[in-house]
This record gives sequence, structure tokens and C-alpha cells, in this order.
Amino acid sequence: MYKRVSGTKDILPDEVICWQKIEEISRRIFSLYNYQEIRPPIIEDAGLFNRSLGEFTEIVQKQMFLIKNLEDTYALRPEGTASIVRCFIENNLDKTNGFVKLYYMGPMFRLERPQKGRLRQFHHIGTEVIGSTAPEVDIEVISLADELLKAYSISGYKIKINSIGCSKDKKALISTINKKLEGELENLCADCNERFKHNVLRILDCKNEACQAVINKIGVAHEHLCPDCLKHFSAVKQGLDTLKIEYEVSPLLVRGLDYYTSTVFEIKHPDLGAQDAVGAGGRYDNLVKELGGPQLGAVGFAFGVERLLLVTKIQEHIDTSKNLVYVISLGDEARKEGLKLLNSLRKEGIPSSTDYEIMSLKGAMRSANDAAAKFVVIIGEDELKKNVVMLKNMQTSEQKEITQKDLIKELKC
Ligand code: HAM
Repeated sequence: MYKRVSGTKDILPDEVICWQKIEEISRRIFSLYNYQEIRPPIIEDAGLFNRSLGEFTEIVQKQMFLIKNLEDTYALRPEGTASIVRCFIENNLDKTNGFVKLYYMGPMFRLERPQKGRLRQFHHIGTEVIGSTAPEVDIEVISLADELLKAYSISGYKIKINSIGCSKDKKALISTINKKLEGELENLCADCNERFKHNVLRILDCKNEACQAVINKIGVAHEHLCPDCLKHFSAVKQGLDTLKIEYEVSPLLVRGLDYYTSTVFEIKHPDLGAQDAVGAGGRYDNLVKELGGPQLGAVGFAFGVERLLLVTKIQEHIDTSKNLVYVISLGDEARKEGLKLLNSLRKEGIPSSTDYEIMSLKGAMRSANDAAAKFVVIIGEDELKKNVVMLKNMQTSEQKEITQKDLIKELKC
């Protein structure tokens, strides 16, 4: 028997209700903020991610699902930002709309070691705002994330923010950390010794206790930020204060992808365990240019939907009761009538179902119950003769004979 691939999930009908609710809320709030949906393909040229995320990032080095085809290498997208920037440039969206506010939902793929909240196929709900370097956009995007989380019935999360500065500042930060860590290599784990060679910023979020002790000892602050980046960062903090959005400045937060500059943020939830980020994002003011487009500022974030679902209380607010009408027809003639009735009910917009197995009234009533039907309509020989149907309310058990015309009127109100 075949089994699902490790690190993937079957989302069964009972769970789909929560997914649909999260998606519905997201669409409503994104459109309230005037964001438009975009749907790039899930398969891209692998080079796009090498270039955007960085050759030495964990994702590119170890986690890409690659498909080789003659000379081309494709990747199942590990994230959305690079795809959307590629799509923005390729479709000349900068020429039609200088400033775009986009959102997306869909599967992402990373070949990680599966654990709670860490999958190989997971889903993002994210946004990318392209075309401005104004700190007000960072504020809008962070407040949008906060608004979405509240609407998903999630509480207890913490928004952590930082600024890694422009490319020059980032280089200065890397070189300061390099110098500070040079004498500490023997106290760092093997992975961090590797990171030291190519991706020193990743050392800052290593979970290893010994590494954390070293990081706390060397101390990282904001001395690498130039006046413009400092100004931008204080404007972002002030805006969040004005909107009364709670956040914590975390100088060790640097994010694992190369494209980030300036503001970065992560939203953590204490109930998630080791994989505690429900979402994350930041600015990437050089990526559009690096991928062949104009110099345009951009900022975005993505939530991991599976992690949202681990902490949401949304199921408490979902009304699962259905106004389903279940048609039971007994006998060959009645079945023909039942088929016509089902058709009429559906044409009138009344959700309805039936069973297609020939069974006793008792068996059919059991099926109606299993389907959580609110009403049952029975057509037997007697009803056929009298040109009526029997309508039963499954909640009150009341039943009465009624003509088909009156039935539709009654079910519609
Ligand atoms: P990321 O931090 O790699 O950022 O992913 C965003 C969120 O996706 C994480 O906070 C987490 O909730 C979820 N996530 C990541 N990996 C997994 C996994 N293996 N299993 C389950 N959930 C996962 C990005 O991808 C950036 N593109 C976000 C962004 C948008 N930055 C700017 N714009």
C-alpha cells in the first residue's frame, strides 16, 4: 500500500473547514487593505532561488526539491518572494503599476527533517508590496500581519523586529561579527563553524546552547546602522507605537535569506515548541534590481498556514450546521420523482443530497442522520398517489405532508 510522502499531510474534509475559514478571512482582510491576489507557478528555474535566497543559505544548500530535465534544473518553490519578484519583472508590472500590493496563498516545498510544525510541503499565506522604500509601508505590512492574526483568533503571539540595514550596513555587521567570533570558533558547534565560512549571520539564530552563550557574550547592537537606516527604523517603531501594536526589538534577529535589508520581523508563538515562528518577513530593497528589474523598494511577509492552524481557536467560531435537505425515495417510480425534486431544489439554491443505494426507510434515515441533514423529504407510493411529499424536520422530529411547490417555498425561508 502506498503511503503519503514523509513531511506531507493529507488535509481531510473535517480540517478543510478551518483552512477555508483562514483563507476566507485572509481574502477579506487583504482586500480591506487593497491588496490583490497573484498566483505564480509552483515550479521555477532553480537558479532564481540560488540567486535570490543566496548560494550559502540552508534552503539552497540542503532543502530544494530539484527536478532535472536535460539542461534545465527546476525547483519546486521553497518560498514565494523570489517567484513574485520574477513574475513582477517578467510581466512588466512596474510599468503598468509602479506600486503593487500583492498577496498569495499556496504550497511551498522544503526538503527538511519533518517534525511538529515543520513539513516538506507546507503552505504560505503571504504578501509582497513592491515599489516603495517608505517606512509607512513596513508599518502597514506589520499591522496587516497583526490584524490577520487577530482575525484568525490567534492570541499570545510576539512580534519581534530588527533592522539589519542597507547592503553596506549588512557588510559592516558581517565583518564586526566575523571579528568578534574569530577567537571563539572552538566554542561554536560544527554547523556554526561551517556558517562562519560563508553565512556568518546564521550563527546568530543557532539554537545550540554553547553557540547562544558565545553570541550573548559578543553582544550585537545597532552600531552598524547608517543614519538613513537608523531613521527608517525609528520611523517604523514610531508608527507601530502610534497604532498601539506591541513589538519587541531583537538585535539578534537577522533572518536566514540573503535578500533581506533594513527592517526584518518574525512573529513567534509560545505554544508552537521548537518551530515557534508563525510568520516572518521584512524588506528586500535590492532584490528587484538584482533579478533584472528597476531599483525598487519592497517589503512582505508570509505565514505558515499549518502553524497558524496549530494555535488558532477559529474552530470555536465555525458554524458547521448545514441546511442540508436529504431526499429519500422508496420504489422505482418514487426514485424518478426524487431525481427531479433534487434537481429543482438545487436550481433553487437549496443544498440537497440523497443516497443512490436502494435501501429501507430505516437505512436511508440513518444515512440522512450521518450526513447531518436538517430536513428529510420522503417520497413513497402513498405520497406519489396524493401528489405530495413528507417533510421531516430532523431537529424537532415534526413531520407533515406538503406539495412540492410549498416545500420549496418553506425550505427557502
Ligand atoms: P520563512 O521564514 O522562510 O520566510 O517562512 C515563513 C513562514 O513559513 C515561517 O515563519 C513558518 O511559519 C513557515 N514555514 C517555513 N518553513 C516551514 C516548514 N518547513 N514547515 C511548515 N512551515 C514552515 C519566507 O519564506 C519569506 N519568503 C517570507 C517573506 C515574504 N519575506 C518577505 N516577503
